[in-house]
Amino acid sequence: MIKVLFVCLGNICRSPLAEAIFKNKVKLNNKSETVDADSCGTASYHVGEDPDARSIELADENSIEIDHLGRQLNIRDFFDFDHILAMDSANLSEILAVKPSGATARIQLIRDFDSDPETGEVPDPYYGGKKGFQNVFNILNRSIDGFASEINLW
Ligand code: 4NP
Repeated sequence: MIKVLFVCLGNICRSPLAEAIFKNKVKLNNKSETVDADSCGTASYHVGEDPDARSIELADENSIEIDHLGRQLNIRDFFDFDHILAMDSANLSEILAVKPSGATARIQLIRDFDSDPETGEVPDPYYGGKKGFQNVFNILNRSIDGFASEINLW
């Protein structure tokens, strides 16, 4: 089983949407038996909460199932997952700051796999409007395709 963990700050906007988009592609490519995913946040503010209503709306509009409750990154994640993909460089710094010695997960920025030549991060859409969430959705969709192709998932 190849396991991928998507990480943002609060685990209610970006990473649950990334998890949902990824799992939808896993299903479409008939890889549910061999590829799995989860998401979490570096912070604990939203532990146990549903995804943000705007992320749910974007998933619904794209007929993608989104089913996740917020949780915080923990030490086991560094051994349980093969890939840890951070949304932005602040997330990446937080992840690296708590990374235990002997961690086996490969830790990268998800946008390293974006086919759009514009470099940058998955911007935090929390304080913005719907447009920001649509932008995040498009970035995640491209980046996940790039990631899957890079590691030959399908
Ligand atoms: P996320 O967005 O990291 O994409 O889930 C945020 C959600 C909540 C907060 C910040 C970012 N917050 O400060 O509560």
